[in-house]
Amino acid sequence: MKALVYNGPRDVQVKEMPDAKIEKETDVLVRITTTNICGSDLHMYEGRTDMESGRILGHENLGEVIAVGKAVDRIKVGDIVCLPFNIGCGFCANCERGLSGFCLTVNPGTAGGAYGFAGMGPYSGGQAELLRVPYGDYNCLVLPEDAKEKENDYVMLSDIFPTGYHATELAGVKPGQTVVIYGAGPVGLMAATSAFIKGASQVFVVDSHKDRLQLAEKIGATPIDDTEGDGVERVLELTKGQGADCGCECVGYQCCDRHGKEVPNLTMNNLVQTVKATGTIGTVGVFLPKDPGAQDDLAKEGKLAFDFGQFWFKGQRIGTGQANVKAYNRMLSNLIHVGKAKPSMIVSHELSLEQAPEAYENFDARKKGWTKVILKPGK
Ligand SMILES: NC(=O)c1ccc[n+]([C@@H]2O[C@H](COP(=O)([O-])OP(=O)(O)OC[C@H]3O[C@@H](n4cnc5c(N)ncnc54)[C@H](O)[C@@H]3O)[C@@H](O)[C@H]2O)c1
Ligand SMILES: [Zn+2]
Ligand SMILES: [Zn+2]
Repeated sequence: MKALVYNGPRDVQVKEMPDAKIEKETDVLVRITTTNICGSDLHMYEGRTDMESGRILGHENLGEVIAVGKAVDRIKVGDIVCLPFNIGCGFCANCERGLSGFCLTVNPGTAGGAYGFAGMGPYSGGQAELLRVPYGDYNCLVLPEDAKEKENDYVMLSDIFPTGYHATELAGVKPGQTVVIYGAGPVGLMAATSAFIKGASQVFVVDSHKDRLQLAEKIGATPIDDTEGDGVERVLELTKGQGADCGCECVGYQCCDRHGKEVPNLTMNNLVQTVKATGTIGTVGVFLPKDPGAQDDLAKEGKLAFDFGQFWFKGQRIGTGQANVKAYNRMLSNLIHVGKAKPSMIVSHELSLEQAPEAYENFDARKKGWTKVILKPGK
């Protein structure tokens, strides 16, 4: 099969790899028809993780089931399925509680497994023609009859739509509340969408990319361009000096100041400043236990100079971590099905698998107009 392989920093290549196949009786084999490039892939692409070379990337996957293992009951050949980026077993103590992002059995010694992901187990990614899905009955979301027609919407259920929603869950967004979101990348835009689904009265989205902020505005959010003045001051001005009720971090450890210099504690400290006293912050942007490639000494050890005093004084709370995609994907799929959500509105490029290397390069450079790339293997 053809697949996108990580060779090393900023070096990915589409090449012939051994076909993915059923390895355990509980597996399902999927022919991938849509697979996305994610901001999380960029951490690996840039060599800012311990991703092993030779591995296939891709954790945002959708396709058609072409084979099922002997122990698979529910999933049938021909089903069109969207796969959560997290791989769960369904029977461990965390999966049982709906915390499938922290499965205790699929990646022994730690909590959480994923396709084509640094530190998340040996599983190959889906930026390929075929994907092996472990525990197929548990992990496959079978899509309704409009699966083909709305494929570019449904594929967002693999990660960014549930992740954006998770940010608003962690932040405890309630009807009528105001929300400040740092990052207008795909995750931030999906967090803004989700905040409105939850009934937020006003959503501020802070970034420095005009094209992305325009999408935020289209969703109904108030865009705040960090290059046109201090974003923090602007949010405070717009909230009568108090800050928003809730905040979402949708950038992660490579967040930058307005000059493009990495300042790893910037978004978290900005959130402490721009979320009101007693407010809650949901952090889905990725922060790592170790970041040897960081310029900052603390960050190399996965530490941040966090404004804890101010955070404590304001009585704030934080929720963090990978999104438990399975906790939300079915419900969010209903919104797509009835036309109440259209996450494909952020798609900027629909390309073949062969075009993946140039897509990585452009998306990584955050080139104007490159918001979300979807790849169509086999086309
Ligand atoms: N928790 C999860 O389950 C989960 C799932 C998917 C992605 N993620 C993470 O979410 C983060 C965002 O993903 P994405 O795909 O949207 O990535 P992205 O890199 O495309 O978007 C990040 C955006 O943040 C902006 N940004 C940088 N510094 C900023 C600052 N100081 N203030 C405001 N905005 C700033 C950038 O301009 C960019 O538009 C990444 O860290 C990704 O790894 C987490
Ligand atoms: Zn992703
Ligand atoms: Zn589990």
